[in-house]
Amino acid sequence: MTFNYKDIRKDFPILDQKVNNRPWIYFDNAATSQRPLVVVEKIHEFSLQTNANIHRGTHFHAIKTTEAYENARDIVKEFLHAKEREEIIFTHGTTESINLVARSFCERFLSEGDEIIVTEMEHHANIVPWQMACERHHAKLKVLPFADNGNLETDLLESLISSRTKILAIAHVSNTLGTVNPIKEIIRIAHNHNIPVLVDGAQSVPHITIDVQDLDCDFFAFSGHKIYGPTGIGVLYGKRAWLDKMPPFLGGGEMIDKVTFEKTTFNELPHKFEAGTPHYVGAIGLGSAIEYIRKIGLENIAAYEHQLLTYASDKMKELGGMKFFGESPNKTGVICFQLDQIHPFDLGTLLDQLGIAVRTGRLCADPVMDHYEVTAMTRASFSFYNTMEEIDRFIDSLIRIQKMF
Ligand code: ALA
Repeated sequence: MTFNYKDIRKDFPILDQKVNNRPWIYFDNAATSQRPLVVVEKIHEFSLQTNANIHRGTHFHAIKTTEAYENARDIVKEFLHAKEREEIIFTHGTTESINLVARSFCERFLSEGDEIIVTEMEHHANIVPWQMACERHHAKLKVLPFADNGNLETDLLESLISSRTKILAIAHVSNTLGTVNPIKEIIRIAHNHNIPVLVDGAQSVPHITIDVQDLDCDFFAFSGHKIYGPTGIGVLYGKRAWLDKMPPFLGGGEMIDKVTFEKTTFNELPHKFEAGTPHYVGAIGLGSAIEYIRKIGLENIAAYEHQLLTYASDKMKELGGMKFFGESPNKTGVICFQLDQIHPFDLGTLLDQLGIAVRTGRLCADPVMDHYEVTAMTRASFSFYNTMEEIDRFIDSLIRIQKMF
């Protein structure tokens, strides 16, 4: 490995604590990640030393805060390798980013009888906004299925596309199966039919280098809190060609050019989609989180997390009674599983008593549960600050719980 995880651990003091009298092991990183000191300090510094509303004032702090916020936009632009900084919209998170497109794009481009394609492995945030849009516009939602091993049935995509397909929305990485979808290939197929593609990058940005120009995606959404930044801040990347044509999503201050009671005209990108006072402290914190992981290197992060995944999967396979959900050879550090007949809620609670945090339940992905005909799953998801020793303790804990049942 080219980085020392022991040094990395010092950056995350929250991990150095006991839960139920045992050193805490945090394996719920796909739900939210922990924040490194630099991010906490950046937010703290801004709260203590620099604060004024942005884009509105000519005084010292207004200018300084505006500059920091717009600098965060530049950091995100570089991170996604977007062509223009105006293509980066700050939102409250992936969910709002997707809702923005589902509302605004569909208002302009979706008509009665049109179709939208999503996949069977989406989490609810990339299903429900499209369903709501289909209801509003009397359009139809079509679903690209996945195979039992967790791979998308990409071969079926052509058969789902019709002249009425207006947009395709797909997760880059599944939050349950961990599958890294072949989005470049999928985008190419969609574009052959002039269909734009929204990529839900919530689960991919912490692990995979993103180049929106190379992918040629039309929209890309992600959340700050899953990439070591604050909650309540997220990003929507959109190609200018689409964003220019889309009507505003929310109305209010900042997104306007001129307001009269007869007519209001709207601001330029990106402000057209940033109504009201934005979460500028969050954006600044996100910028700092991105700088932090870029310093470590996403390639290093991905390589180490892959080692954790392989180590954990191999050890778990050695336990009898283990069933995995999602076994694509191309996956991130996410393991969804069922151990014997132990209910995931029992398993999660017992693991917690042993100081280990995993996620249990329907994982915001009901259709994935339905696919496997289960009511719940247990999910362990890793980050680069986790260790092989933690996995050993996780395995020992599973064995101990197995013996109890
Ligand atoms: N979508 C988040 C998860 O997978 C909340 O846990």
